Amino acid sequence: MDVSVNGSVDGSGYVEWTRRFRVERERRADEGDPPWDKGASLDTVVWASVQRFQVGEDGDGAHLIGKADAAGDGDYAEAVRLFVAEEQNHARLLGRLLAAGDMPTIAGHWSDSAFVWLRRLLDLRTELLILMLAEVVALRYYRALRDGSGDALTSEVAARILADEQRHVPFHCERLHASLSELPRPLRRPVMAGWRLLLLGAGLVVVVDHGSALRRLGVRRLRFVADVMRSSGAVVAAILGA
Ligand SMILES: [Fe+2]
Ligand SMILES: [Fe+2]
Repeated sequence: MDVSVNGSVDGSGYVEWTRRFRVERERRADEGDPPWDKGASLDTVVWASVQRFQVGEDGDGAHLIGKADAAGDGDYAEAVRLFVAEEQNHARLLGRLLAAGDMPTIAGHWSDSAFVWLRRLLDLRTELLILMLAEVVALRYYRALRDGSGDALTSEVAARILADEQRHVPFHCERLHASLSELPRPLRRPVMAGWRLLLLGAGLVVVVDHGSALRRLGVRRLRFVADVMRSSGAVVAAILGA
């Protein structure tokens, strides 16, 4: 498996990312957890949707960390560890939210298993491109959950996760920009055009799977997919950018 993504990335950029991730970690520790004892009340279809996203956030990230280590940039590898810890914290927050609503977590879901299986086969660049699909979809999903749940605890949890995801996207963009720069120039735009097609596919899978929950949250299926696609413009520009 090719994991030699880049030997020439300027490590200093990732020193800044590790600093930002650490600052956030400290801020989280100071802030403490949301008030779980408030309890949470959501529509059944929204709970089912949260259960599936909880599984998606969960995972030890060992493969991603392994590939980041192999890429040979210690600062980047450290930033990836801090990133993985934030994703694990999302799974924990959603798990606590489910518990606050007397709902169990679920063991797994086919969409997550397929996603994890696919990512493990890939080199770091491709894994990040696939991971970025989930990040971009997550931005729209957590915004819908924050704004449309009608439940204070759920909105708070969704807002906290959303703030992290908004940081994750530029973090991956930076690495992908360096990583795509290693490809022959004529290949870069087609790669990102292919990525946008995959994003469309991912958005469609999510609206098939979570459509009724999204409707409950006030977002129509088509609107969700359209918003996801619109937000991808800035991501593609950042990855291809000069
Ligand atoms: Fe997340
Ligand atoms: Fe994320």
